[in-house]
Amino acid sequence: LPVTVYPDKLTASKTVAKRIADIIIRKAAKGENAVLGLATGVTPIGVYAELVRLHKEDGLSFKNVITFNLDEYFPMLPSSSQSYDAFMKEHLFNHIDIDLTNVHIPDGTLKQEEVAAFCLAYEQKITALGGLDLQILGIGRTGHIGFNEPGSAPNSGTRLVSLDDLTRSDAAHDFGAKSKVPTKAITMGIGTIFKAREIILMAWSAKKAPILKKAVEGDLSADVPATYLQLSDHVEFIVDKEAASELT
Ligand code: F6R
Repeated sequence: LPVTVYPDKLTASKTVAKRIADIIIRKAAKGENAVLGLATGVTPIGVYAELVRLHKEDGLSFKNVITFNLDEYFPMLPSSSQSYDAFMKEHLFNHIDIDLTNVHIPDGTLKQEEVAAFCLAYEQKITALGGLDLQILGIGRTGHIGFNEPGSAPNSGTRLVSLDDLTRSDAAHDFGAKSKVPTKAITMGIGTIFKAREIILMAWSAKKAPILKKAVEGDLSADVPATYLQLSDHVEFIVDKEAASELT
């Protein structure tokens, strides 16, 4: 599993942003769309900041970019400040020239009985657009990627899941209290993520060191869903030295 360690998350984030920009530019030169899988949370914030800078200062255009976010809480109104929809607008979409009709985020407003059809359509849309060129990921302390919590199957697709207790504790800060954190989410599956032509998992800070060690060096196990990435030949881990501190 290729792991690249950077001295700090700023340098690492700029590198990931450059990788994304290169895909966008390469595709634009061919008159094609770039199809990107995006993540939320604190980890990719620096990547999005650098993409915004590349747009504003270097003229990087997102006109040919189509995005699919990994996940959204369920239930969740897009207008809620905790929604991943709001997060993406705040950190990226409001500051670039992307066509919002090219933006896809799982819908937290569906009725429970509508979710299965929505999830199938989400997968089909990705496939119809030629698949994800790149999926970026963070990692949760449970070992989740997207919201594929322990117990997730390696071939899982987009679906409604229950959030792990530790994940809800980690999100309590955003919601004011753990009791206010939704118990469910819609997430792309491990199988969905695997189909991306490139996968980059990012991890910063000592807080992520123990789970990063398990993900990189641990036995393959549904207990740590990120270990499944060891099976991929098109994944790269980009981490800072603190997150890498427990790797052998
Ligand atoms: C977010 C997502 C999650 C986060 C993970 C890490 O869309 O899918 O897997 O990447 O929970 O979160 P942060 O980056 O806040 O530590």
